[in-house]
Amino acid sequence: MSVRYIGSKARVSGLIADLAGPPPSDAGVFVDGFSGTGVVASAVADLGWPVRINDHLTSSAITSAARLIARSDVPFASLGGYEAALTKLAEVQPVLGFITREYSPVSAQHTEVERRYFTEANASRIDAMRAQITTWREDGTVSATEERLLIADLLAAANRVANIAGTYGCFLRNWSSTGVRELELHPRDLRSRPVEMDVHVGDVTQIPVRPEDVVYFDPPYTKRQYAAYYHILETIALGDEPEVGGVTGLRPWRHLASDFCYRKRALTALTSLVHDCTAGRVLLSYSSEGHVGQDELEAALAPLGELTVHSLGEIGRYRPNDAAVRNADSVHEYVFELRRSARGVAVQSSLPLAVQGVA
Ligand SMILES: C[S@@+](CC[C@H](N)C(=O)[O-])C[C@H]1O[C@@H](n2cnc3c(N)ncnc32)[C@H](O)[C@@H]1O
Repeated sequence: MSVRYIGSKARVSGLIADLAGPPPSDAGVFVDGFSGTGVVASAVADLGWPVRINDHLTSSAITSAARLIARSDVPFASLGGYEAALTKLAEVQPVLGFITREYSPVSAQHTEVERRYFTEANASRIDAMRAQITTWREDGTVSATEERLLIADLLAAANRVANIAGTYGCFLRNWSSTGVRELELHPRDLRSRPVEMDVHVGDVTQIPVRPEDVVYFDPPYTKRQYAAYYHILETIALGDEPEVGGVTGLRPWRHLASDFCYRKRALTALTSLVHDCTAGRVLLSYSSEGHVGQDELEAALAPLGELTVHSLGEIGRYRPNDAAVRNADSVHEYVFELRRSARGVAVQSSLPLAVQGVA
């Protein structure tokens, strides 16, 4: 099985782009506050919107940004073009680095578990390529955008050979046919026209937003914390060597624990998020599988402005394993659209009682 990004809107990104509508004639931008894989920002950019993307995971922000890159943004002049750069990257000699030490069978030499996320051959190529990208950036061979694209391509390549059942929350005890494949870098289809974009890595509450912007929020809706479920992608993206531990070699992630993932905090977190956002239009995705029920969310958001609930229909449920596939029913996706006055000021200036009362 290949990697699944929990909550990805790949199947409904077109519908969400339709809700955004045509790009505005004013200076408004489409802000994707929880960009994840970037499929929504990409669909909206296809309509001609300038976009601002944000995620608190660097790996997600990089993956999202890569979908927006045009060929003219990444000439790779010093390496003979994009495809040539990937070929050179694929040729680097394997290195026994952090990913190999912690996430391949080599881990058994210093831990009690043999972490079988990657074969030693693939892990040592990931280490070598990640180090090469840093060297190229440091010596000026590649630009910041070219670096981002190469890291995104390396993350995609790692995803194609990870020995996991959908997320990096655990590795498989036995090697899957995917896990023993040889790591390969694939060039992606770059855009023919540049997209006006800016990329942020940080908490959603820190993104700059103006009244003329349309803000899209797709927060986590279950207990699964992305920082833990995708920890190895984050380490590859950052190229750092954190203290890791436990069976799965988890990097420190609790500083990124999201309130949306806790049943008791989710309603307050969602309502505050929308309340505090100063955009004239806010689109909030939520799922019938989420901690907060549709009626409850609707009641909390209605006092904040003019609310419309759009049903996007059924989409497949995240299924971590074969048993879950057999038992799966589908889930319903909604977008709550809130419109506020042109000044971006909430119709009601204080939080509704439902929000104040929840711990
Ligand atoms: C449901 S996913 C978004 C999926 C995305 N729309 C897609 O289609 O791929 C939620 C994302 O929010 C990010 N996230 C969680 N808490 C966050 C926070 N407080 N601030 C910013 N990003 C956060 C996670 O890393 C994850 O990528």
